[in-house]
Amino acid sequence: MNATLREGIDWVGYVDWTIRDFHGYTAERGTTYNAYLVRGKKTALIDTVKAPYGQHLLQNISALAPLQSVDYVVCNHAEPDHAGALPEIMAKMPNATLVCDQKCKDALSRHFDISDWKFEVINTGDTVSLGDRILHFIETPMVHWPESMFTYVPEEKLLFSMDAFGQHYASSQRFEDEFPLETVIQEAKSYYANILMPYGKQVAKVLQQMDAFNIEMIAPSHGLIWRSHVQEMFKAYRGWAAFRPKPKVLIIYDTMWGSTGEMARAILEGAALPGVEVQLIHIRSSNLTRIATELLDAATIAFGSSTLNAGMMPMAAAVLTYLKGLRPAGKAGLAFGSYGWGRGGPEAIDEYMKTMKWEILRNPLKAQYRPTAEILDECREAGKLLAVKAKDLAE
Ligand code: FEO
Repeated sequence: MNATLREGIDWVGYVDWTIRDFHGYTAERGTTYNAYLVRGKKTALIDTVKAPYGQHLLQNISALAPLQSVDYVVCNHAEPDHAGALPEIMAKMPNATLVCDQKCKDALSRHFDISDWKFEVINTGDTVSLGDRILHFIETPMVHWPESMFTYVPEEKLLFSMDAFGQHYASSQRFEDEFPLETVIQEAKSYYANILMPYGKQVAKVLQQMDAFNIEMIAPSHGLIWRSHVQEMFKAYRGWAAFRPKPKVLIIYDTMWGSTGEMARAILEGAALPGVEVQLIHIRSSNLTRIATELLDAATIAFGSSTLNAGMMPMAAAVLTYLKGLRPAGKAGLAFGSYGWGRGGPEAIDEYMKTMKWEILRNPLKAQYRPTAEILDECREAGKLLAVKAKDLAE
């Protein structure tokens, strides 16, 4: 399943077909841990794989070059899905020097016993020569860990971008143009939303830096390699990093006995204006990953929950806790939901939206036990308000 990116540059990673829960991320298509071997007068391995798959990586490398011929192991990112196999790799590559920045070395020292490893600590702009080609390093702090880094090969116009531009996408082919572009972009969007969303400012800065580089191919550390749609990927990332909204209304809710669900559908009816996309998501029929992905480019959000024990329902609280951590900016929304003898569900959601600094479009919409015809009309009006605001924000 190896693939050649350029002459002497090969993918040597591992395809994880069966994973679905990636530290909470619902990876519906599985994933890959991409590592790359660059062979020239000297040989470098770019990144490794998750610890259990170290043997696969070693086999893939051995099929191309003796392990003792590897001169450098570049660590672009210390997270265990890419650095987990380092102890096994370094033990089997006696002549290899580990190349990374100081923050990465510090992080690796807290994960592993690094006392026997040779290091070359680099900064942005430093290079390592492989003889006929160089590796040029660009630190990309908080995209999405402090030590995150890109490695660029100018002779090949090739960027090794670790998590950035990646997708959780297990496949037998390695390049994005071997799959429908919309599907790949959707998986890249999901990856961005769930991993990089809190770091939009840092991503935007890195995208600006990339303008100075001539890039024809992007080889991320998950999923497919970009070779035909690099500019489309950059354009999509620019939009996501800026939280550029679409005219899109998201209605997210949980319901106990259907009243909040009925309100959600009435909001949907009101929001269905021409030119506005509306999505209805029942929290317990969906998952955090999909909700965050849909939130990324939504302009306005109605978030609803029935009242349970003087608060919102637990999965609604889980969603809001997750979304708050992702720091979605520039949104407008409103809370809604039902209650019985005590209040608390919609009010708690309203408070959450305020802490996320979303523009609150109206006071919480509430129904006692069952929504009356008047309340359902009010929900339709609120839906229209959300749709009109979504159009405004998307202009
Ligand atoms: Fe794929 Fe941040 O590790």
